[in-house]
Amino acid sequence: MKEKILEYLLNHQGEFTSGEVLRREFGVSRTAIWKHMKTLKEEGYQITSVPNKGYQLTIEEDRLLAYELEKSLGKKVEVHQSIDSTNNHLKRNARDYPDEMIVLSEEQKKGRGRLGRSWDSPKGAGLFFSMLLRPRITMEESFKITGIAAAAVAEAIEEVTGLPARIKWPNDILVQGKKVSGILTEVSGEPDGINYIIVGIGINVNTPNFTGELKDRATSLYLEKGEKVSRKELFVRAANKFFRFYHGFTREKTLGEVHGILENRSAVLGKEVIILRGEEKKQGKAVEITKEGFLKVRYESGEEEVLSSGEVSV
Ligand code: BTN
Repeated sequence: MKEKILEYLLNHQGEFTSGEVLRREFGVSRTAIWKHMKTLKEEGYQITSVPNKGYQLTIEEDRLLAYELEKSLGKKVEVHQSIDSTNNHLKRNARDYPDEMIVLSEEQKKGRGRLGRSWDSPKGAGLFFSMLLRPRITMEESFKITGIAAAAVAEAIEEVTGLPARIKWPNDILVQGKKVSGILTEVSGEPDGINYIIVGIGINVNTPNFTGELKDRATSLYLEKGEKVSRKELFVRAANKFFRFYHGFTREKTLGEVHGILENRSAVLGKEVIILRGEEKKQGKAVEITKEGFLKVRYESGEEEVLSSGEVSV
């Protein structure tokens, strides 16, 4: 019912609709209408109510609306105004939520990055979302999901903004050498089979500035392009691409076209890199992204190693 009322108001933007009209249209009491309006307002919809006139919905530009995103993607989408972390939210609700459900939030109070870091998630400035997946793959194969997400985000960024997007293995997207997006993939399961995977993606879309130590390392699409970027368009493109690549992978069990994207867009291939693993620091040359999406490095000794995790700095 709530969705029907929302759709009605959307089709009547710019005008007031009285509670009585809605009551007749949907055959429910005016109290019920009032309660649905209250819920919609709590969900962040801007609804003005004026006595004797009724209700009017105003949609701000680039507002993320669950019903609209669901229509574009054909998937269950939830949009929060504020949340601790979309990854945490999916983890708490994994048992009850359908496969391939997506949760976005306008802001995160405790956005998390890799290696216990935090992820700045200021209201309305970026895209902060997580996807719940239940593929039939092993724990080892689940590593590829990060590569699939990185490829999808990098391509979507470039297609929507025209800015060149590179992938810093394994999970950062860079524009002009600075980070615009990060991916946090969390897996629940046993070595031979997984329960679920949560892929969390943060993109600095319209962030106006960065301060402190982030200033030199992070940027936003707005800062690089010099104009605002549509979060809606970017999200839909990135999510659609992700699911196309992901379904290809679950079907074929190989990265397919994603491998080429990881190679061509790599920000580390052919470069001297420093590999950080816990306390250990090693220097080598990034020589290959393997068919599995791993990074092969060659050390000065000539010895080669294939990395499946860790952090690399260029
Ligand atoms: C990183 O670069 O370290 C990963 C950053 C991942 C941030 C996203 S924002 C949406 C999702 N929810 C979180 O708490 N983190 C991820």
